[in-house]
Amino acid sequence: MKITLSVVKADIGGYVGHSASHPEVKEKAADELERAKKQKKLIDYKVLSCGDDLNLVMTHEKGEDNEEIHELAWNTFLECTEKARELKLYGVGQDLLTETFSGNIKGLGPGFVEMEFEERESEPVVIFMADKTSPGAWNFIVYKIFADPFNTPGLVIDPAMHDGFYFNVLDVYEDKFVTFKTPEELYDMLVFIGTTEHYCVKDVRKEEDGEKVAASTTQKLNLLAGRYVGKDDPVLIVRAQHGFPAVGEILEPFHFPHLVEGWMRGSHRGPLMAVPFEKATPSRFDGPPRVIAAGFQLANGKLIGPRDHFDDPAFDMAREKANEVADYMRTHGPFEPHRLPLDEMEYTTLPQVKKKLEGRFKSAK
Ligand code: 13P
Ligand code: 13P
Ligand code: MG
Ligand code: MG
Repeated sequence: MKITLSVVKADIGGYVGHSASHPEVKEKAADELERAKKQKKLIDYKVLSCGDDLNLVMTHEKGEDNEEIHELAWNTFLECTEKARELKLYGVGQDLLTETFSGNIKGLGPGFVEMEFEERESEPVVIFMADKTSPGAWNFIVYKIFADPFNTPGLVIDPAMHDGFYFNVLDVYEDKFVTFKTPEELYDMLVFIGTTEHYCVKDVRKEEDGEKVAASTTQKLNLLAGRYVGKDDPVLIVRAQHGFPAVGEILEPFHFPHLVEGWMRGSHRGPLMAVPFEKATPSRFDGPPRVIAAGFQLANGKLIGPRDHFDDPAFDMAREKANEVADYMRTHGPFEPHRLPLDEMEYTTLPQVKKKLEGRFKSAK
């Protein structure tokens, strides 16, 4: 059975500030998707949130880039925006850049990721949802899962994984992508994906033109809008087991809270902290950046789950380390590398301050 798993996400208003989604907004989203399920537009759905980002997880048989599904997600966000406006939540409709829907949600603000595949005899998937960071945060993670044998022994000992994977890497500025085959082209690939704000892993496949094994949201809101509209808090889907990495191999990279871009005002570097659903409420300095892992077994498109994978004491040390690193980074205050370089900041007063000081810069030659 060929099914499509679509995750569409948007920040339609924060409760309080940028720290969480309001329960009534989540209920509103669930009401809309329940109606669509009754009308047989969807097989199943789940509404989840990470920080102030609302995630609609949907399954259907209509394929990727389907107008009806995109419109459903769009209209759901509009309904949620009404609720958010009523509650005067913070930054209402932050990620909705237009009033009108035009056939596809691409370019309208929300992030989305879709995968159409033949549902296997057993189809475990893990959906990562993050807040206070951007899609480049997944590069390190996806590299560890699919290309690092120290993380994923399956690359060495599972005959079905031993040939490696194809990575499609997007240049987010040029809107072009390039395919790398690992392990053969690992070093070439790392030149690009190490530059996380410019190149993002769009998806991973076992055959060059085969089904996706992993896929991520790669929209860059700030580029879309040409102005600050919030970091494009990302989602990553990874299918697990039976020729793909095991669930534990997929979760393993998060033992290390690597530094990502985002955090306060989308303008700082901080550690990505793996947390249970109920702790996905960034508070300290609007962070540190958070990620949750929702596991599902698909059963003819039905979403059996979610399992809250980071609700596990085995990730306590990662969280402790993240807190230590957060403290260390915070101590830099307004200095790089905690604060992002000028061209990557979401906020800047540089033009105004430069203008004020015009004429005061003297030749140093
Ligand atoms: P199974 O043999 O049950 O698939 O488990 C192997 C595995 O992937 C554990 O990591
Ligand atoms: P969000 O991108 O999650 O809305 O956060 C924006 C921000 O400014 C946090 O300080
Ligand atoms: Mg927000
Ligand atoms: Mg957010």
